[in-house]
Amino acid sequence: MTASTATPATLDTVLSHIDSDIDAATARLIELLRIPSISTDPAYKDDCARAADWLVADLETLGISARAIPTPGHPMVMGKYEGPEGTPHLVFYGHYDVQPVDPLDLWDNDPFDPKLEETAKGTVIRGRGTSDDKGQLMTFVEACRAWKEVHGTLPCTITFFFEGEEESGSPSLIPFMEEYKEALKGDVALICDTGLFGHDTPAIVTMLRGLMGEEVTITAADRDLHSGMYGGVARNPIHVLTKLIAELHDDEGRVTLPGFYDGVNELPAEVAAQWEALGFDHKSFLGEVDLSQPAGEKDRTPLEMIWSRPTLEVNGITGGYTGDGFKTVLPSKASAKISCRLVGNQDPEAIRAALRAHIEAGLPEDCTVSYNPHGSGPASTMATDHPAFEAARVALSDEWPNEAAFVGCGGSIPIAGYFKQIVGVDALLTGFGRDDDGLHSPNEKYDLECFHKGIRSWARILDKVTAAT
Ligand code: BES
Ligand code: ZN
Repeated sequence: MTASTATPATLDTVLSHIDSDIDAATARLIELLRIPSISTDPAYKDDCARAADWLVADLETLGISARAIPTPGHPMVMGKYEGPEGTPHLVFYGHYDVQPVDPLDLWDNDPFDPKLEETAKGTVIRGRGTSDDKGQLMTFVEACRAWKEVHGTLPCTITFFFEGEEESGSPSLIPFMEEYKEALKGDVALICDTGLFGHDTPAIVTMLRGLMGEEVTITAADRDLHSGMYGGVARNPIHVLTKLIAELHDDEGRVTLPGFYDGVNELPAEVAAQWEALGFDHKSFLGEVDLSQPAGEKDRTPLEMIWSRPTLEVNGITGGYTGDGFKTVLPSKASAKISCRLVGNQDPEAIRAALRAHIEAGLPEDCTVSYNPHGSGPASTMATDHPAFEAARVALSDEWPNEAAFVGCGGSIPIAGYFKQIVGVDALLTGFGRDDDGLHSPNEKYDLECFHKGIRSWARILDKVTAAT
């Protein structure tokens, strides 16, 4: 499908409109940010629905017919704009749910009362979801708004698809996408939930890690015991659990589970060379969070560790007495939340089975184990030969001071692979977050510059991708 690209003058008019509307766009974003749509906590169910309704109403102000579609979890927002005859169909995805805010006392302001704040590095919008992902989602909506206000129409057909469960592992996504497969069948899917490379280099993600999560609970005695009366003779489940966890890595930083590396491929030489040329400065990346030493597999570069190698991490561990003061207790239970980032063709369920087998092989006879499996999904690789990739690369390079880079992403976005597997559409991921945004952390922020240039980037991408697709 071909359509003529906007003339430079028409694109420039949209970009100028974006510039003059940035304060109003920021105010709209702040309205959305004020809704505490924490998907993982049932207490915020109504707020998730409110955020979905807010987005429906906002899309309707652009002349887009939209609705919030119920799921067993939180609603999906779908909207469609029919573009001029013969133009491509783009499907845009972002998520309106956010992570929990605890520990709340580490926030300098109310996470759901976002404010513009002047910092040494520039103006930031601070609050939960600013960067992950409401601010990013709104960069696309605002680009469409500017285009519509300038031209009275959008450049092509666009389906808007906003999820409210991404931070909970997207439990409703597969059945939903199966049901709405036809509506989601565009020429390319655009996903805005990732970041820049370094400070100023726009990035298009070519590979994304998958995820497997498992909560393991070990029970020893049927109640907590006095450690003076039982200590020495009774089994301590924290000791059992931590020993089993310690065995999961060897001294070289490799994961010891049998079969863990099945399906992990070596990086093609040209990709390794391209990554090398990015000049990733791991000292400053780690220095930013007060660390200095790469802690993964000893024979891998830091970029490989983040983008193309799998990991096994303990995300949380509980057991025994953790309150103030001291209590001489032998706990009955200990549990750990363990997750693996997956790459290549690693099979999440095979890895879950290997982890369970390891625990069960080392479990003392008088202990029991129970599991709470969390969502899982394999890694995905993007089709960089799709014409939208080159179009987006040029568009992003026009907006930012540096040429756009093709990068990996260590995080996971379940939908990225589902677009191809379920709907048969290639996905293109780009986004404008910075490493210091504090995703999932206290004091999350989104640089105003990223919001503004992100909107401008999407206007340029809409222009170029419409012409190329
Ligand atoms: N926006 C992130 C993905 C991401 C992480 C992009 C790091 C760039 C850098 C996304 O919202 C996210 O947090 N995904 C979760 C998925 C999980 C809960 C299934 C993740 O990666 O942990
Ligand atoms: Zn996230």
